[in-house]
Amino acid sequence: MKIEEKIIKLKKEKNAIILAHNYQIVPIQDLADFRGDSLQLSIQAKNSQAPLIVFCGVRFMAETAAILNPEAKVILPAEDAGCPLADMINAEQLRQFKALHPEAKVVCYINSSAEVKAESDICCTSANAVQIINSFPENETILFVPDKNLGSWAAKQSSRNVIVWNGYCPVHQWGFTRRAYDRLKNQYPDYKMIAHPECDEDIIAVADEVLSTSGMEKYIKAHDKLIIATDSSFSDYMQHLYPEKKLVSLNTRAYCNNMRKITLKNVLRSLEEENYLVQVPAETTKKALSALNKMLEISH
Ligand code: 13P
Ligand code: SF4
Repeated sequence: MKIEEKIIKLKKEKNAIILAHNYQIVPIQDLADFRGDSLQLSIQAKNSQAPLIVFCGVRFMAETAAILNPEAKVILPAEDAGCPLADMINAEQLRQFKALHPEAKVVCYINSSAEVKAESDICCTSANAVQIINSFPENETILFVPDKNLGSWAAKQSSRNVIVWNGYCPVHQWGFTRRAYDRLKNQYPDYKMIAHPECDEDIIAVADEVLSTSGMEKYIKAHDKLIIATDSSFSDYMQHLYPEKKLVSLNTRAYCNNMRKITLKNVLRSLEEENYLVQVPAETTKKALSALNKMLEISH
């Protein structure tokens, strides 16, 4: 029996579901019950009736699923699949940041630990950051953590006073350069570029559209001849799904190594052994849930 067949068989026996982020490798996205961006996966996890959720993504995503659905057992197939961006601020650093701006409200990107979410007023994802910032009164000061690129871009769209934490995603910050863009644009002058808001402001400035990964997929369905500036597994999967589309990756090797720690082999093992279990302490869950639910009330 092929490994994919073993996974599907065991998944059915255990009444489990597999959620996969858009940056997962092709075979994992192909066998997932649901694939999507951070917002879509959070909603799926919250609404799932399954007793077991195998989360093919990184730790903060699995943690969010565990917070939103405390009834389910959430497992992450690779224990060390983290997110360097989420690690760029911890709860103590956020408390100190808040102490410097006691009047401000805190918006935290979903790419953050449960403890940081618990210290925040509301969460956001790349799909709804502008909408979330716009939900505050115009005169409110907002602290945005941890991604400076998403925070600055969303602040510009909403003309709000946003003070950003100096965090970034190494894949998006360093993976895409203006030089690479100029070279590709020269080669493909009639192609448009879609970029993830975690990219550096230099890339955002020349992007035709700035979109979350699910926003990108929608855009790809409706357009052709595109340069893509986000994790290369996403571009690989889009080309696999839409072979007729002319898609070029701004960097064909900008892979998120943490996302790629999830393999068919460890998905099967995680289903067999029901680990690694992702658990969040009750007090943290309660506070983080409030920030997540506020986001979901505004954007779902
Ligand atoms: P999306 O929510 O747009 O899928 O992004 C998640 C992420 O980690 C991007 O690096
Ligand atoms: Fe984190 Fe960047 Fe990987 Fe997204 S691509 S999970 S932000 S390290």
